[in-house]
Amino acid sequence: MDASQSNAPKSATLTIGDESWELPILNGTIGPDVIDIAKLYGQTGKFTYDPGFTSTASCESQITYIDGDEGVLLYRGYPIEQLAEPGDFLETCYLLLYGELPTAAQKADFDYRVTRHTMVHEQMSRFFHGFRRDAHPMSVLVASVGALSAFYHDSTDISDPQQRMIASIRMIAKIPTLAAMAYKYSIGQPFVYPKNELDYASNFLRMCFSVPCEEYKVNPILSRAIDRIFILHADHEQNASTSTVRLAGSSGANPFACIAAGIACLWGPAHGGANEAALKMLGEIGSVDRIPEFINRAKDKNDPFRLMGFGHRVYKNYDPRAKIMQRTCHEVLGELGIKDDPLLDIAVELERIALQDEYFVERKLYPNIDFYSGITLRALGFPTSMFTVLFALARTVGWIGQWKEMIEDPSQRIGRPRQLYTGATQRDYIPIARRK
Ligand code: CMC
Repeated sequence: MDASQSNAPKSATLTIGDESWELPILNGTIGPDVIDIAKLYGQTGKFTYDPGFTSTASCESQITYIDGDEGVLLYRGYPIEQLAEPGDFLETCYLLLYGELPTAAQKADFDYRVTRHTMVHEQMSRFFHGFRRDAHPMSVLVASVGALSAFYHDSTDISDPQQRMIASIRMIAKIPTLAAMAYKYSIGQPFVYPKNELDYASNFLRMCFSVPCEEYKVNPILSRAIDRIFILHADHEQNASTSTVRLAGSSGANPFACIAAGIACLWGPAHGGANEAALKMLGEIGSVDRIPEFINRAKDKNDPFRLMGFGHRVYKNYDPRAKIMQRTCHEVLGELGIKDDPLLDIAVELERIALQDEYFVERKLYPNIDFYSGITLRALGFPTSMFTVLFALARTVGWIGQWKEMIEDPSQRIGRPRQLYTGATQRDYIPIARRK
């Protein structure tokens, strides 16, 4: 309902038995109105029940807006399509953090500030050497980002706006360095220090793919592609990992530790791990003629198999990021001269068949961003174990922006959901000798 509709109801009435309560209705600038239940327990002695938060707005935010039915994604009001084409990732970071697009001078200053924080403390490299060689890069990233909290005590006073901003810039600047170190460690190659003359995406590609014994020239088309992938993943309002960061931060915890909590949440296959799972699934399907078999498995309620990269909690239409990702995928394969990628052929055909199938149409299951990102990242040279790491790198700005917004919200309190208790009622302890 539009906030400008003056005849829109201002409250909702809740009736339980013969008692009624008026609950205020709050309007956003766009999107559904919300029923304010903050005082519900105090007034009625009852909680609401919403596992998975499908009908619950957990906070007020001005950063990102999604219209899942229309397939719209806005960062600070700007459609993702407009930001992904002409701009670069650091411009999106500035927009998400400050709320406005930067002027040329502001952008140059921001780029400078981020670039000057790209190195990590040298002791961090010794920290890395404590991991097993075969550790998953996501486990290394969770731990190393958490470890930043031990390295930057001076930015832990979260009540100081300047320290909050320094922590934010440090996070955005250091996450590519840590992500690249996690990769290099996993393949047994030396860490590559950041090179500040390069842009954010090119520097990251160089830290991942260069070796000290050879010159490395960044391909501008590929660095543009990775930059666009970062923009597409930068924020996505109150998803599981962002809500995790907010909840962890709501207790006043160290921001680097909160981002580590977000990375841990992102790792799961239902969230950031889906691009890895989607690529594995395409490999498992193996050939176009086996698609019907897998479509049938996805529809079979007795089979746990799902089409990875399909469906979304919020998008009940084509994910706008998936369209840009599909284009980027073709660009990357074109630039690398990959004319026939069997996995891309399977993906295109799978999408075509699923979009015509009644099961998927009825449930509004469309490809999400992860459907094409795996093929693209693999073509760029990343192993599947790095896919979620790249997602975490890009989402860091969203997490830190949402964390900052929460800390700066005067109504902010510690997050403390309640429960519907269905366990044992009170009973008396029985000494072990008397138990049967
Ligand atoms: N394949 C087959 N059936 C599906 C799928 C799928 N990928 N996704 C949902 N369904 C069915 C589901 O079985 C249910 O059917 P029914 O109503 O008959 O029981 C119906 O669609 C609704 O599904 P749901 O599980 O209630 O929906 P949800 O909002 O809880 O789940 C989701 C959203 C993304 C976890 C789910 O669609 C899924 O598991 N997709 C595959 C994993 C994936 O691609 N995840 C990436 C999400 S996008 C990246 C990100 O933002 O992190």
